[in-house]
Amino acid sequence: MQNTPMPLSVAPSLASPAVRPPQGCDVDVWDIDLDTAPADAITLLDDAERARAQAFVHSHHRQRYIAAHAAMRRVLGRYLGVPPKVLQFDLGPYGKPALQQTPGTPSLHFNLSHSGNRALLAVGGCQPLGVDLEAVRPGVPDPALTALVLTQDERRQYDELPPAQRTLAFFSLWARKEACMKAVGLGLALEPGSLHVGLDLAPQSLQIPPSADRIELTVLHGPDGFAAALAVEGGIGRITRHRLDSACGSWH
Ligand SMILES: CC(C)(COP(=O)(O)OP(=O)(O)OC[C@H]1O[C@@H](n2cnc3c(N)ncnc32)[C@H](O)[C@@H]1OP(=O)(O)O)[C@@H](O)C(=O)NCCC(=O)NCCS
Repeated sequence: MQNTPMPLSVAPSLASPAVRPPQGCDVDVWDIDLDTAPADAITLLDDAERARAQAFVHSHHRQRYIAAHAAMRRVLGRYLGVPPKVLQFDLGPYGKPALQQTPGTPSLHFNLSHSGNRALLAVGGCQPLGVDLEAVRPGVPDPALTALVLTQDERRQYDELPPAQRTLAFFSLWARKEACMKAVGLGLALEPGSLHVGLDLAPQSLQIPPSADRIELTVLHGPDGFAAALAVEGGIGRITRHRLDSACGSWH
């Protein structure tokens, strides 16, 4: 497995009509700057996404949601060789979006995570996956949150850390748990306190019902000030990082 630091490719692949989807257990991870979307990004969204966008109270939350979904559509559309706007999604029982399959199109798994002004989009060819990105916020967690999120063993390891290391350790652990919860599609329906990942950042393999396959979990390099993780059912091959931001000009 190779987890190469950014930037490996600054979106030049988007100039071609279609991008080759990741093969086997390989995963492409797209890093998206949500503050650089073009003003007309909303035109790429469908009615349901526009309705969700309109429901945000704060305009910067609305703009970042629009930017994340426009970027997701643009990247996925390139893999499939179709315009971003025509993509349609089905939702799993706990809300996990999946591309609607049409005959002749390659199977593509993806997962999106956004936090603050950044997003990560993970794209894989063969197995369900989950990605999580968390802006590290000072003062978090409080005791109620640690009680909710940590297993007893994790709590013991956490309490042994010097106080100055605890916030980062917590967000890293939270990102790794949430990546797993998203890979199996349960999201927060899987209680984080029932899932043990520990504080050790080494890649690991976990059995998480209802997934029959083992889940492979690894830390991702996030932007400065963020924790990030990737979990994939069945295993992780080569990870290739890409960046989608103002460097590639128009998103259309
Ligand atoms: C999925 C979930 C863990 C996301 O947590 P988060 O840290 O706030 O958000 P992230 O930015 O990491 O991920 C959000 C993205 O994950 C995807 N997602 C949503 N539900 C998901 C799920 N169950 N599994 C995996 N991915 C999911 C979506 O693409 C979503 O993006 P969007 O909100 O812009 O549409 C959390 O919102 C959750 O558990 N939701 C489930 C809600 C539920 O149980 N609904 C019941 C069905 S009615």
